[in-house]
Amino acid sequence: MSYPEIRPRRLRRTPAIRRLVSETRVDPAELIVPMFVKEGLTEPRAIASLPGVLQHSRDSLRKAAVEAVQAGVGGIMLFGVPEHRDPTGSGGIDPNGILNVAIRDVVTEVGDATVVMSDLCLDEFTSHGHCGLLTPGGDVDNDATLDAYAEMAVAQAAAGVDVVGPSGMMDGQVGVARRALDAAGHTDVAVLAYAVKYASAFYGPFRDAVESALEGDRRTYQQDPANLRESLREVALDVAEGADMVMVKPALPYLDVVSAVRAAVDVPVAAYQVSGEYAMVEAAAANGWIDRERVMLETLTSIKRAGAQIILTYWAVEAAGLLRQRY
Ligand code: PBG
Repeated sequence: MSYPEIRPRRLRRTPAIRRLVSETRVDPAELIVPMFVKEGLTEPRAIASLPGVLQHSRDSLRKAAVEAVQAGVGGIMLFGVPEHRDPTGSGGIDPNGILNVAIRDVVTEVGDATVVMSDLCLDEFTSHGHCGLLTPGGDVDNDATLDAYAEMAVAQAAAGVDVVGPSGMMDGQVGVARRALDAAGHTDVAVLAYAVKYASAFYGPFRDAVESALEGDRRTYQQDPANLRESLREVALDVAEGADMVMVKPALPYLDVVSAVRAAVDVPVAAYQVSGEYAMVEAAAANGWIDRERVMLETLTSIKRAGAQIILTYWAVEAAGLLRQRY
């Protein structure tokens, strides 16, 4: 019988030694919490398919933002749910539209204590639910949409946002947002580009959260899940257009993409653990089939290990608390 001389198990023997040799730690400061605010609400409202996540009123959003700061999260990504929608999504540009009002509220409340970000996309505001304007034939009109995004970026910056997140997957959206921001004097507002965004079925619960009116799908602008090289092309374009940070979305089913993007660029790489990823874990945990907290932290660790230094997750506030106990 020959016994091994080299024994990797030595480094797994106690919690202390495992902690010593741990290669990946998730820091609360790297987590961004997405938050929804709905126009006209007086009380926050639960979202059935996203247990634990709320549609906020303006008031409850301010309080939740303060709690997020206290938990030590790195940022807040805001999404607005308007009362009324129209074909051009004008509520996204209107300075009194719910998202712009919410940006002002949150920035007033938390100042520079965390990074305030906003989704730069029309889908929450359009009556047809697409991320852009439509041609008379019903196609999504890339260049007309860019003009709207330019105005929306400037409106969000005027409301005080730190970072805009163009997420509509129109060609040229990062460059247009950058130029519009600069022309309006908002040279300090950064762009977190949703550079890689797949046409994913994992967005289902989000569409409930924003009460999306979409019929059909987004496959003429979001990417085919089969493609990896295409993502590197998207990222290169966005960096060339001035993206300060790039994001991959969804996260867990696309860790190979996160890793390839990390290797390809020097800007910070974020990954968005989307609504369906969260909902799957919550549903399985509610059935007693998995250990909710362990799975939560395992997913975040895996996304970080793959190369994302920033993670958007609906668990950000809770995970920040758990992570602080752990380290
Ligand atoms: C577009 C947007 C979407 C998500 C974030 N930004 C929806 C979509 O592209 O259909 C999805 C996020 C999630 O599922 O958690 N405004």
